[in-house]
Amino acid sequence: MGKLFQNYKRADVEFIKAEGNYLWDQKGKSYLDFASGIGVTNLGFHPYVKAALKKQAEEIWHSPNLYRNSLQEEVADKLIGGYDYLAYFCNSGAEANEAAIKLARKSSGKQEIISFKNSFHGRTFGSLSASGQETIKKGFGDGVPHFSYAVLNDLDSVKRLVTEDTAAVMLELVQGESGIHVADRTFVSDLAAFCQQQEILLIVDEVQTGMGRTGRLFSFEHYGIEPDIFTLAKGLGNGFPVGAMLGKSALGSAFSYGSHGSTFGGNKLAMAVSSAVLDVLQGDNFLQTVRLNADILQQKLKAALADLPLVTDIRGLGYMIGIESKADLADLVAGARARGLIVLTAGSNVLRLLPPLTLTEEQGEQAVAVLQAVFQKDRQD
Ligand SMILES: Cc1ncc(COP(=O)(O)O)c(C=O)c1O
Repeated sequence: MGKLFQNYKRADVEFIKAEGNYLWDQKGKSYLDFASGIGVTNLGFHPYVKAALKKQAEEIWHSPNLYRNSLQEEVADKLIGGYDYLAYFCNSGAEANEAAIKLARKSSGKQEIISFKNSFHGRTFGSLSASGQETIKKGFGDGVPHFSYAVLNDLDSVKRLVTEDTAAVMLELVQGESGIHVADRTFVSDLAAFCQQQEILLIVDEVQTGMGRTGRLFSFEHYGIEPDIFTLAKGLGNGFPVGAMLGKSALGSAFSYGSHGSTFGGNKLAMAVSSAVLDVLQGDNFLQTVRLNADILQQKLKAALADLPLVTDIRGLGYMIGIESKADLADLVAGARARGLIVLTAGSNVLRLLPPLTLTEEQGEQAVAVLQAVFQKDRQD
């Protein structure tokens, strides 16, 4: 690791093999993956997705955006279904959010974007500036101007920030990185109605919540709203780097020839994989089963952990689950890993679970048992 920037805190374990919902390290130890990368390999290491990648690699893996790309059209069709959106493909969540910010500004002719405290939208200057967390901005000088930050679930805090130059309100419906904070239903529907009435665009960042993670293809479907713009990445390629920004067709003229672009965005490999991912997610009853199983997992977690002294809250939406705790998070993560379970953290006091959507009942029980042991062990220490 000597020649790498030390911008990540890496555990001294390397995963060298994966199959289904399990990972193997260099010593042959297996782990149940309750992190899915970081909300990426939502289908686990799925044979159908792997086959699509291999097949496309045999044909052609890149073609510039100067030529027709029927795979992009196919993925756009599958994503959009009966909705009225247009799609733009890129390579990551931050890039998708950059595209969203640019589309909002250009289509409205306004500059200000209201996002939320504790939000996370990425590490590029635009997406970083949109993020409502000071620690990740420290030392990088001035960000992009014209961003302000409201309080999640407080519509008045949004209204107070609106000016004549407000282009958009941007939010995660479940704040992932900062600790699994789920937006209230009434807040979201009131916010959507307010934005529509004020002709302010609503941008939903679905980078972590999208692609079935919360039990619906997009988390906004839980809320009965349709954002003007939304963004995807992570689970879209199930581990193959890809992002997407979708905007209502009425905004299409703002992204005319030459207005925005990406060399790799929507390349053939990324699109073949995304198309396969969507086949699985849109298969018969798949998401319905995810919703059911995720509810069962949440119930089992609550039954096993809620009364433990170190656990202060268990919350989430679908398979996006946070266990708030007074315990040291690094100890919890290491304790789970020692027992063969990979978990994540979020914010300063939340253990974050992003299991694969393909989780079986036994795997769910295995994880609950490990977590129970970890939280109990920590209490004894
Ligand atoms: C909600 C949200 N938006 C944007 C991003 C940034 O995505 P990427 O790391 O692919 O740039 C993330 C990453 O964690 C995220 O959770």
